[in-house]
Formats: sequence, C-alpha cells, structure tokens
Amino acid sequence: MEEQKKLTEQEKQERIMLSRQLINWDRLPFDSDQKLQLPQPPLVKAPMTENIIKLPMEFEDLDMEEDFVKILFGRRSNRVYTQQPVSLLALSFMLWAQQGIKGIRGKSYATLRTVPSAGGRHPFETYPLCLNVTGLKPGIYHYLPMDNAIELIKEVDPKDPAFMDQVKASVRGQAFACKASVIFYYSIFQYRGEWRYGFNAHRVMMMDAGHVTQNLYLCCSALGLGGCAIGALHTDLCNEMIGLDGKDEYCFYCMPVGTVSDENEEAEQGFYAWLNEKK
Ligand SMILES: Cc1cc2nc3c(=O)[nH]c(=O)nc-3n(C[C@H](O)[C@H](O)[C@H](O)COP(=O)(O)O)c2cc1C
Repeated sequence: MEEQKKLTEQEKQERIMLSRQLINWDRLPFDSDQKLQLPQPPLVKAPMTENIIKLPMEFEDLDMEEDFVKILFGRRSNRVYTQQPVSLLALSFMLWAQQGIKGIRGKSYATLRTVPSAGGRHPFETYPLCLNVTGLKPGIYHYLPMDNAIELIKEVDPKDPAFMDQVKASVRGQAFACKASVIFYYSIFQYRGEWRYGFNAHRVMMMDAGHVTQNLYLCCSALGLGGCAIGALHTDLCNEMIGLDGKDEYCFYCMPVGTVSDENEEAEQGFYAWLNEKK
C-alpha cells in the first residue's frame, strides 16, 4: 500500500474545521433535487444476479434472550470468536433486524424498516461476507431487504490465505475480524440522501448508520453472539473485494459477528491491555 504524506499541523486543523461544519452546518436555503422534482433514486439496489436465496423468517424458533433489560446490559463489543457456525435463521434475523422492510410509505416514496432513517431515505446496502454459516456456501452476498433474501455475488474460500489477507487488509489489519462467522459490510448510496437533503444529507446519513449497527449489537446480545463495529476500514479495498464502483456506492462501515465463549473474557480484555501500562 502506498504510504501517504502526513498532514501538517495547519492542514490537520483545516480538516478539523471542515469536519465540524458537517455537524454544525448552516441552514443555507437551497432547492433540493426532490423539490426540483428530479427523479427519485431507487429505494433499494436491484439484484445483480439470479443467485437469490430466500431467507427463513421463523424467528420464534431462535433461542433468544427476550428480557430487554438483559439484552441492553449484555450489549458490548466482542473481538474474540470461537469460530463455530452461525445458523441461517440467525443470519436472516440479523439482516432483517438491521435493514428489514416492514412496509412502504406512499406508492414508492420510502421504505419503512426496523431502523429509523432521516426522511425515510435508508441510504445503505448490506453485504454479508459469510465465512461460516450453516447451509450457505462461503461467499460475499448482497441483502435484498424487499424480500428478506440474499444473492450470492462471489464464492470465496475462507481457507485461502490470500483471500483472508484481503479481508484483513479491508479492515486495516484488524485480524480478529477474520475469525468471525459473518462480516457485515455496509455501503452507502449518497444520492438517496442528497436527493432530499442536498449537502445536509451526509450528516444525517451518518446518524442513520449508528441505528443499523446498534440493532445488530442488540441481536448479538439476544442471540449470545459477539460482534464489533469497525469504522477503521479501507474503503477502496472493501469496494474492490465486494465489487462496488466506489463512486455512486461505496463501502464505509462493517461489523464482524461470531460465536463467543465466557472462557475468552481474558483474551477480550487483552485488547485493552495497553491501558494497564498507562499511569
Ligand atoms: C462507529 C464505530 C466505529 C468503531 N470502530 C472500531 C474499530 O475500527 N475497531 C475496533 O476494535 N472497535 C471499533 N469500535 C468499537 C468501539 O471501540 C467500542 O464500541 C468501544 O470501545 C466501547 O466498547 P463496547 O462496545 O464494548 O461498549 C467502533 C465502534 C463504533 C460505534
């Protein structure tokens, strides 16, 4: 990977000021593309293949914690996985809980999902990289939320060190992700938000992303699985691995999920061992 030149202190401060503007944007008046009556972008990305697998939805069959307070107390990041398979039903539940569609507002104005989204724009697509899911070929899939289905985009070999090196590089060397049963990669279609909110879209779209992974975290807590949101990923490498154009749609976030064991608590704490060395 090409090493990039370090920013000067002044450049760093300029960048910080730009980023602050994103959060505290002046409400400048403008006509959005929606107001200009430009065509609305599609609510979801259409399937790219014919390899479509309808997912089971008998969620009542899952062995799941149902006490909401316990689920909230159990919510945490896990980075040590025992590499056991995850069931297809659990995968289906996790996908549905993050992005599942429960209805349509208007004729085709917005999708109503298990998570909120500013203006109902729902700008994300989900690509589960299934490394160890019972009954599924290992591969990169695309979630089709209209039908609670997935499509196989690319078969992969989790035993191929070259492929797993690519996965590791996609999360900037965070090797723990490679032991997950599934890594959920998320892409964003900026124009879904921009059509309605113009330059105010990016702020609210990042707020929306948090809802998606929080629902996944809560699923993990309820199902006895473990996961860890990853913001520090390598956008270009993720796009390349999944096959995204990197322009209209690009990868920006991911979350590995795997099986966990209480016996690994010490190893979990090991991720923060560096804190013990601090005074
Ligand atoms: C947006 C976001 C990005 C994150 N990125 C990373 C990451 O790249 N690597 C990592 O190990 N943890 C990452 N985390 C997990 C946080 O470090 C974790 O939530 C935090 O330490 C609190 O621990 P807890 O989730 O167990 O309460 C991220 C969390 C969020 C919400």
